[in-house]
Amino acid sequence: MDLEALTRLESLRVTAQILDGKATAAKIREEIALEITAWRDSGKPAPMLAAVLVGEDPASQVYVRNKEKACQSVGIASRVIRKPDNTTTEELLELLAELNADPMISGILVQLPLPKQIDAQRVLDSVLPLKDVDAFAPENVGLMVQGRPRFLPCTPHGVMQILSRYGHQVAGKHVVVLGRSDIVGKPMAMMLVQKDIGFGSAFANATVTVCHSQSSDLASITRSADVLIAAVGRAKLVTADMIKPGAVVIDVGINRVGDSLVGDVDFGPVSQIASAITPVPGGIGPLTIAMLLKNTLAACRLQHSSSTN
Ligand code: GUN
Repeated sequence: MDLEALTRLESLRVTAQILDGKATAAKIREEIALEITAWRDSGKPAPMLAAVLVGEDPASQVYVRNKEKACQSVGIASRVIRKPDNTTTEELLELLAELNADPMISGILVQLPLPKQIDAQRVLDSVLPLKDVDAFAPENVGLMVQGRPRFLPCTPHGVMQILSRYGHQVAGKHVVVLGRSDIVGKPMAMMLVQKDIGFGSAFANATVTVCHSQSSDLASITRSADVLIAAVGRAKLVTADMIKPGAVVIDVGINRVGDSLVGDVDFGPVSQIASAITPVPGGIGPLTIAMLLKNTLAACRLQHSSSTN
């Protein structure tokens, strides 16, 4: 092929805007650090996060370490409580009762997954809703579904941050969410259909379709998405033929393939069709942690106001 033809071909290639989660998270951490400084300057105590880590799951160890480091970077104190793999449900319930009652602790996080012998639902349900910085508690889920959130769940909140900060509005658009987990898919859909979940009406009011493992003809649904949010945990499930040209693609997946981490989206080919896309790593992952920090500060404020009222 001659140079002219090659140049013509190159100019036809659309390369998506990369939505940089790492840089956005760094900016948000700076904002949170300033808020915490002001909070402390007014004589209030430092927010504190307690993270409960059970067992030796290597990915969980890394996540908790990253959460600790992030806390430190903004002035949030953190305490990691490590428990052996053979811990019982009762032991964890006792620990959580202590953490719930400790006035120094603003937020509590139980790192998932928990070992098989533990009744994870019972454990998660025992976290005091006012300290539930993951926003998993039924009370917090309910408040969010009703459009009056106490805490927004961290990963969907991170997605909202990236959409709003890059100006990708969703009002009136068709947003397709792949995955129906309690942590990402379900709350994500619920946030997008609200009239305003805290980012203004342009970043809500979407027409939302939720797809899952039983959905038939997935590609025909995803091809009608103006915004596609993939949160299924299947490496490169979303291929270029499933994308509407110009769509905004948000990849929430973090899948280990050999020695590397890949998303749910086949990044290279999809980025030639989408108008904007989040990378993995460096996309939604760092934002999830930044939103945990935001919730820990919010929890600290809530507890302080309830203890002085
Ligand atoms: N494990 C994977 N994602 C999460 C999360 O968002 N919160 C907690 N607590 N554990 C997780």
